[in-house]
Amino acid sequence: MAKLGVNVDHIATLREARGIDEPDPVAAAMLAELAGAHGITVHLREDRRHIQDRDVKILRKTVKTRLNLEMALTEEMVAIAMKLLPDSVTLVPEGRHELTTEGGLDVSMLRQTLKQKISLMQQAGIVVSLFIEPDIEQIKASHRVGADYIEIHTGTYCEMKLEKDRLEQLRRLELAISAARKLGMGVNAGHGLNYRNIGPVAALRGIDEFNIGHSIVGRAVLVGMERAVREMLELLKGS
Ligand code: PXP
Repeated sequence: MAKLGVNVDHIATLREARGIDEPDPVAAAMLAELAGAHGITVHLREDRRHIQDRDVKILRKTVKTRLNLEMALTEEMVAIAMKLLPDSVTLVPEGRHELTTEGGLDVSMLRQTLKQKISLMQQAGIVVSLFIEPDIEQIKASHRVGADYIEIHTGTYCEMKLEKDRLEQLRRLELAISAARKLGMGVNAGHGLNYRNIGPVAALRGIDEFNIGHSIVGRAVLVGMERAVREMLELLKGS
């Protein structure tokens, strides 16, 4: 079975919507671990729209499984990673106006900087993963710059409406996994995965870990709604 890394960014999105101190992604990470998650992922974005520096600092101390820091390839973020020393870093492209990470890294274009920063972080004991499209050239380029892992972008697969298109995208994922494995890299996968589309991807061989965020946080809100309302009613009754 592949492992599950839970991305708790959107607990912080909810908190930031109110500008107060709850719900706390640190508490959500603890509960995810208690439920059996194999790792916790947070994306510290340059614009700090959800996860804050305070969150990653506390999570570094409290996460008992593995902390994966998603971040852009910038001097600021690399300096934070070198200080924080997460178990792994996943490098992602970042655009100010995007709602969530769009597309994978163009590894060839960034090869000089990637090579240098990957080596720097690896020397500090950080495992480095690159978020890329399921594309053979990107996979080869990831290997050339020394990445330990790739994280395959599953977004296109998730967006497909027709069965034949979904199967075609699954085949693409399968070829990408196999190519990365042959080059000796570990393989993670994520983006857009939910309770309806995970099955066929989970059945593919060779994926070490899935990183899933939005659908888990969305489901948590809904499955927790009834209990939350009951608890408030109890307080009203008791007063
Ligand atoms: N992996 C990466 C690299 C991501 O950027 C994201 C989104 O933050 C995810 C996985 C999780 O995607 P989702 O929230 O759609 O499950």
